[in-house]
Amino acid sequence: IHNVIFKDSNKASVIVAQEIANLIKKKEKLGEKCVLGLATGSSPIKVYEELVRMHKEEGLSFKNVVTFNLDEYYPMQKTNTQSYWYFMHEHLFNHIDILPENINIPNGEIPSNEIYQFCIDYEMKIKEAGGLDFQLLGIGRTGHIGFNEPGSHFNSGTRNITLDHITRIDAAPAFLGIDNVPKVAITMGISTIRRAKRIVLLAWGINKAAVVQKAIEGEVTSEIPSSYLQHHDNVTFVLDEGASEELT
Ligand code: F6R
Repeated sequence: IHNVIFKDSNKASVIVAQEIANLIKKKEKLGEKCVLGLATGSSPIKVYEELVRMHKEEGLSFKNVVTFNLDEYYPMQKTNTQSYWYFMHEHLFNHIDILPENINIPNGEIPSNEIYQFCIDYEMKIKEAGGLDFQLLGIGRTGHIGFNEPGSHFNSGTRNITLDHITRIDAAPAFLGIDNVPKVAITMGISTIRRAKRIVLLAWGINKAAVVQKAIEGEVTSEIPSSYLQHHDNVTFVLDEGASEELT
C-alpha cells in the first residue's frame, strides 16, 4: 500500500478527482468505456463536488462512464434521503451527463428472496463491463471497505451482510437514532474490490487514525478487511494529517 498525506482533505480530494478525470479522458481517447467503482459517505463528497465542477466549468463528460456503487442499505427505498441511491444522485449523478442506464447501485428495494440472484447479476455486470478500472473507497472504524465488516472473506463477492454494531452507531446520527439504522446491507465483496485495476482509499480525521494504521501496517486479517488491500499492487491511501497520525 502506497500512502500520501495531505495537510488538507479538500486539496487531496481535488487531486483524486483529477486522477479520475484523467482516466475518463484517457479511456475516451481509446474509445473505451471508463468503469468506476464509487463510494458514499462523508469521505468522497469533495471528490464528487470537484468532478461536478469539472463537468460544469471544463466540459468533462461522463457519457462514456459506467459506475458501480459499492453498497446500499437493505431494505431501503431509493427515494429515502438516507439511501445511497439518493446520496449519489444528490452529490453527483444529478449534476453530470452520465447516462442513467450506466448507473449501477445495489438495489435496496428488491424482495429478500431475490437478493442472491441480484448479487450474482451485479458481479456479472461488472465483469461484462470489463471490470472496474478505478475503485474509490472510504474506510469504516471497523476496518470495513464497502460494507465488508470484520469476518469478511478474502474471496467474498457481492452479497448481503449484517452491519457491525459500530457501523450502526456511526450511522445513527443520519438516521436520527440507532434503532432506525438498517441491520443489513448489500455490498460488493472483497474479491469484487480486489479485482479493480486501481484503488484509492480516502480517510480524513483523527477518528480514522487507529484503523488506518492497522489497515496499512498491521497483519492481513479478516478482522480488519481493509488490510486485505495490502495484497493489491495498485492501492493508494489518501490521508489527511489526522488520519495518518498513528502511522509509524
Ligand atoms: C460507503 C462505504 C463505507 C464508507 C465508510 C466510511 O459506500 O462503502 O465503507 O466508505 O463507512 O464512511 P465515511 O466516509 O462517512 O466516514
